[in-house]
Amino acid sequence: MKKKIIIQFFTIFFFFTNFSGSENLNPGKEVAQTICAACHGLDGRAASGGNSALVPNIFAQNKDYLVVKLKDYKSGKINHPQMSLIAQMLNEDQIKNVSDWYSSITVELKLPE
Ligand code: HEC
Repeated sequence: MKKKIIIQFFTIFFFFTNFSGSENLNPGKEVAQTICAACHGLDGRAASGGNSALVPNIFAQNKDYLVVKLKDYKSGKINHPQMSLIAQMLNEDQIKNVSDWYSSITVELKLPE
């Protein structure tokens, strides 16, 4: 009986570790979560960031646009005290992956009445 409970415990344990492990399979989400979310939010809505008046929304934006912007911050073509430093931390793959994450967020548009 005890053995059965222990086996069940481990089955549940491994199920959940696998489950949470597969969440981390999205490398773009990982970058967004660990680096960008503080200002842009994990969903790309900059509503909650510290100086949110200055932080743009980046969800559902064209992927190529995000890639170009991040590369411009990285190369110094655009100079910004926060974004230039952040973009310099990212390699090419991370730029592509995180752009993929934010551009893949879908929204439903509603025009004002
Ligand atoms: C410390 C806060 C902060 C963090 C963290 C941060 N950003 Fe930004 N981001 C900003 C601010 C502020 C701007 C506006 C910069 C400007 O005016 O040029 C910006 C601008 C951008 C833009 C340009 C948007 C546009 O339409 O011009 C992109 C793309 C972007 N950020 C992506 C990211 C990504 C991806 C990450 C994570 C790797 C990230 N940011 C992390 C604060 C931040």
